[in-house]
Amino acid sequence: MRIIKLNAIDSTNTYLRQLSNIGALEDYTVVVTKHQTNGRGQMGSEWKSQEAKNLTFSVFKDVSFLKLNSTFFLSLVCSLAVVRSLEQFMVPKLKVKWPNDILSESKKICGILIENVVKQGKVKATIIGIGLNVNQTEFKKLPQASSLLLITGVVYNTDELMKSILKNLKYFLKYLEENDHEFLINEYEKLLFRKDKPSSFKSLDDQIFSGIIKGISPNGNLIVLLEDNILKEFDLKEVSLLF
Ligand code: BTN
Repeated sequence: MRIIKLNAIDSTNTYLRQLSNIGALEDYTVVVTKHQTNGRGQMGSEWKSQEAKNLTFSVFKDVSFLKLNSTFFLSLVCSLAVVRSLEQFMVPKLKVKWPNDILSESKKICGILIENVVKQGKVKATIIGIGLNVNQTEFKKLPQASSLLLITGVVYNTDELMKSILKNLKYFLKYLEENDHEFLINEYEKLLFRKDKPSSFKSLDDQIFSGIIKGISPNGNLIVLLEDNILKEFDLKEVSLLF
């Protein structure tokens, strides 16, 4: 496994994508940095992380076996891998807020940015960016954010956490390569934040509505029970779950 350690970079995802454009990369090429100057989050947001306190890294993986309409399963795989690792580090009350925010005690401790390399309508590879709040203790203007240190009182070694996440990523990616979607869905549903509880959602056109998360459909959509007992499926671009 090739691990590229950088003191600072704009974004490990951006860097890894640029690297993959230059030449073929081997699976599990990793870029990790102490400091991102332009860390990116989901939906064009920014990912801020205090220098040298947290884990910010990206992983390259060839996923040409994956159909374009199955890329959501990468969210399942990554969420399961991070949660499995954090369980092993005794982090309490872990949940996944759809699609792939990792929560502990209902606070966000980890964000995942998955960027797929698609060529001529086919998925070629994926770049999985993981930002785990480890030893940072102040989150100004981010009331929903927390870190492993704030939650457990333990100072963690970011290298050990990364090694563990990489091991678990390999483990869960095997299920995806073997097309065992059912296993991934079952494991993921066990971790779903606010499953079977009334929750608020925001649609693409900024409409707020309420519903109850029932689970994940075989094609990876979120199943929500709406008013009048209507079951509706949403894909990741259609709605976001509010806290
Ligand atoms: C989110 O929850 O919005 C996703 C955050 C993802 C952050 C990680 S940090 C490492 C990698 N590089 C980036 O620029 N973003 C991801």
